[in-house]
Amino acid sequence: MEKQRIVIGVSGASGAPVAVEVLQFLRKCESIESHLIITEGAEKTIRQECGISAAEVAALADVVYDIGDIGAAVASGSFKTAGMIVVPASMKTLAGLAAGYSGNLLLRAADVCLKERRRLVLAARETPLNNIHLRNMLTLSETGAIILPLVLAYYNRPQEVNDLTCHLAGKILDLFGLDHLKFKRWDGGMAV
Ligand SMILES: Cc1cc2nc3c(=O)[nH]c(=O)nc-3n(C[C@H](O)[C@H](O)[C@H](O)COP(=O)(O)O)c2cc1C
Repeated sequence: MEKQRIVIGVSGASGAPVAVEVLQFLRKCESIESHLIITEGAEKTIRQECGISAAEVAALADVVYDIGDIGAAVASGSFKTAGMIVVPASMKTLAGLAAGYSGNLLLRAADVCLKERRRLVLAARETPLNNIHLRNMLTLSETGAIILPLVLAYYNRPQEVNDLTCHLAGKILDLFGLDHLKFKRWDGGMAV
């Protein structure tokens, strides 16, 4: 069976643990081949939030690209993928994408998804949001991207931070139709 390629972009917003959770899940999926791009900003947030190096995160992916390698396979629409997840997506990365300014490989790969009408999930993270952030998100949503803000949910009663991380990772995986057990699904009510 031919594996489906999913591109993962990690930019320098808060939320690096969610990216790690997604990559760890994809690693176990025999049907998926993960292609990873990490920005320089994300190298800092990975160290700060996960206490590990970007190289350790990269080791979770099947294929890893240098952020400056604008000639890489994922920079071309002719390289077939099922789409891309940018997790977390910084406001700077959203701005570049909304402006069509493909200044690095992550932006170029995401722009390819937009032009090829492929699934693009942007796990945006900032708070509060200014009008520029909001306008960029609207522009990207209108262009076909799915904006998935990294916002917390309490309805399934998280007990620890990892529960919140898993919930966000699961919401992302849902958008690629991947079966996971990252959170208990709402079925109309829960025993209290
Ligand atoms: C610890 C840390 C947390 C940050 N969190 C955010 C954030 O949540 N959202 C955001 O838009 N930028 C955040 N930033 C700022 C971005 O990293 C910065 O704007 C960077 O230039 C983004 O570049 P990139 O999108 O190429 O990774 C954070 C920076 C650091 C060091």
